[in-house]
Amino acid sequence: MADLLLALDVKGKAEAVRVAAACAGELDAIKIGYPLVLSTGLGIVKDLAKSEIPIIADFKVADIPNTNSLICEEVFGAGCAGIITHAFCGSDSLAACVDASHDHGGVCFVVCEMSHPGALDFLSGENAERMARMAKAAGADGIIAPATRPERTATLRGIIGSSMKIYSPGVGAQGAQPEDVKKYVDGIIVGRAIYEAADPKAAAHEFRVRAR
Ligand code: XMP
Repeated sequence: MADLLLALDVKGKAEAVRVAAACAGELDAIKIGYPLVLSTGLGIVKDLAKSEIPIIADFKVADIPNTNSLICEEVFGAGCAGIITHAFCGSDSLAACVDASHDHGGVCFVVCEMSHPGALDFLSGENAERMARMAKAAGADGIIAPATRPERTATLRGIIGSSMKIYSPGVGAQGAQPEDVKKYVDGIIVGRAIYEAADPKAAAHEFRVRAR
């Protein structure tokens, strides 16, 4: 049984609030990222707070430890409940994100293997497994692993165990189905297949039911 996270990659406050309101009651969390935040500012977090579900900032943080901590301060200060970071900058950069998240009462998820085809160049295989081990050692709350490669997500689940969560993008527009991955993960992340649907609430409802 997996939760449903909406990847709200729309532009502008009006569209973001419209889609979030339309999907009320069908979502377990909203994931925001650069497309929305660059078009609205971080104030969008307060605008989405009416949804009364966690807002997770997918900023794929990838910098030196001090800069990572400063980014986390802004994200959690704006009201986010979680942040998504990269791990490839190394254990000190990752620790800065995890520690800053926990200092602010938030959660930190770590990108291990990405869902798109180009992930096979670097963000997959042994690199992904090393990053999963690093995420576990750092005390991260969970990892991001691909619905498009369920066998890889199963492998990463074996590395992190059951005490950490996995959120999984790739369902919908990237071709994966909820049924491919739901037994390995705690949440599926769906973007375009919901926010571009003629009826986003109905689309969200269907994904939520299929993820259960
Ligand atoms: P779609 O429209 O493809 O949106 O359903 C997917 C959302 O998830 C993000 N994404 C990822 N984030 N690791 C991540 O941390 C990944 O492998 C990955 N693949 C997709 C994407 O940015 C969008 O918000």
